[in-house]
Amino acid sequence: MSNTQDHVRWFRDAAPYIKAHRKKTFVVMISDEVIYSERFIGLVHDIALLNHLGIKLVILHGSRSSIDSHLASNNLEAHYHQNIRITDIESLPYVVQAINAVKTHLESQLSTGLPNTPMSGSEIALASGNFVTGMPLGVIDGVDMQHSGKVRYIRHEAIKELLDLNHVVLLSNLGYSRTGEVFNLPTEELAGEVARALRADKLIYIHEGARNGEKQASTLSTADCEALLQQPDTSDDLKSLLHQAKLAIQAQVKRVHLIDQQVDGGLLLELFTRDGYGTMITNLFYEGNRPASIEDIGGIVSLIEPLENSGVLVARSREQMELQIRHFQVIEKDGMIIACIACIPDEEAKVAEIACLAVHQGYQRTGLASQLLQIAEDRALKQGVNRLYTLTTRTSHWFIEHGFNEDRNFEIPAAKRGSYNPKRGSKILLKSLNVL
Ligand SMILES: CC(C)(COP(=O)(O)OP(=O)(O)OC[C@H]1O[C@@H](n2cnc3c(N)ncnc32)[C@H](O)[C@@H]1OP(=O)(O)O)[C@@H](O)C(=O)NCCC(=O)NCCS
Repeated sequence: MSNTQDHVRWFRDAAPYIKAHRKKTFVVMISDEVIYSERFIGLVHDIALLNHLGIKLVILHGSRSSIDSHLASNNLEAHYHQNIRITDIESLPYVVQAINAVKTHLESQLSTGLPNTPMSGSEIALASGNFVTGMPLGVIDGVDMQHSGKVRYIRHEAIKELLDLNHVVLLSNLGYSRTGEVFNLPTEELAGEVARALRADKLIYIHEGARNGEKQASTLSTADCEALLQQPDTSDDLKSLLHQAKLAIQAQVKRVHLIDQQVDGGLLLELFTRDGYGTMITNLFYEGNRPASIEDIGGIVSLIEPLENSGVLVARSREQMELQIRHFQVIEKDGMIIACIACIPDEEAKVAEIACLAVHQGYQRTGLASQLLQIAEDRALKQGVNRLYTLTTRTSHWFIEHGFNEDRNFEIPAAKRGSYNPKRGSKILLKSLNVL
């Protein structure tokens, strides 16, 4: 495909996302490592673009590494208890200085006229203020945490008014108490609290190494987060993000995204492409969506029988179904199986076959097949397989639109050859899965 066609296709593919995100509220936390990195200017352009596309943005900045280096350069030691910084009275002025320096740098970057950039001539109206009321963390295990605090209240109505005026709201990790004291708040937690108070559509964490280089699924449920939290090799940074993600989803924030700012444009890829770039945490996909069990065979057969009879799907014997049922994922609604997919790995050939994809007529065109494919992809990755193939007679365009390509040279894995009927004239389509 020519470069021009690539652009046209990309833009058309992005159109549904542009429409879906308009007037939605996104809370974005950016770590200070990212803010001081060379790639940050690209992110500034992308933030300006989101603002121009009508997305309501609240931006919070981290300041952990800046506080550490500011304390060190003033010969002050950082003290922690339970992995939480103790902000004592001596270090407080330096902590506030470091936080304000990050905020000022961020404000200056977001205020550049963006000359010679795709967003040239555009301006971002920033707003900040006393939106966060803090309170002391108090004494933990006999240790007084002093000016390390937690969120007491977010003035969400005031933030909403500014967002409605198309302002980008900028928040630091400082909270002020009713008694006039200043508290240093953990930014990840503050971002989660702000997203919950605003009932935001998305909470986005942009970190250096948010995924810790770990091979991770592109979509996680809160149950997956819980499992990762229990794993001893999950880093403390990732644990803190997963914990906040779980709380946010439980408080009705629809999606949480973890984006590692390793690639220029990672935020845009995550928001405007089907495959995304980071890790999305949501339970939306998982309502009624689960791995199949032997009891589901009857429901799956009722769903696919008409398709088998009309030749859209290859007929499967009951015995074959029983052998393969562990590779099926189903969506159940009101006790009925309304959609299914099979992802059958061939460990020797390091590919998995996508088969038996079907959605009940009454539920088609609501994205269920796309959700099932996404889950099948994640399952394949977890099984160490990063290539999918499918054989299809009538649905090739759907698969092509979901990242598959025709490959006439692909060799059907030996284990499949016995049941492969070349007379059907199926197209063989392949998809490579991105492992970040
Ligand atoms: C193909 C199928 C699984 C899609 O399910 P779905 O949940 O409706 O899919 P999604 O909601 O994720 O996507 C819907 C989009 O796919 C398109 N689509 C559906 N069937 C298609 C096909 N055969 N070829 C190309 N596009 C198709 C729809 O038109 C819709 O696009 P639009 O809204 O832009 O018009 C469903 O139509 C089905 O069960 N078909 C019969 C069984 C089948 O063909 N299975 C594949 C066997 S290999």
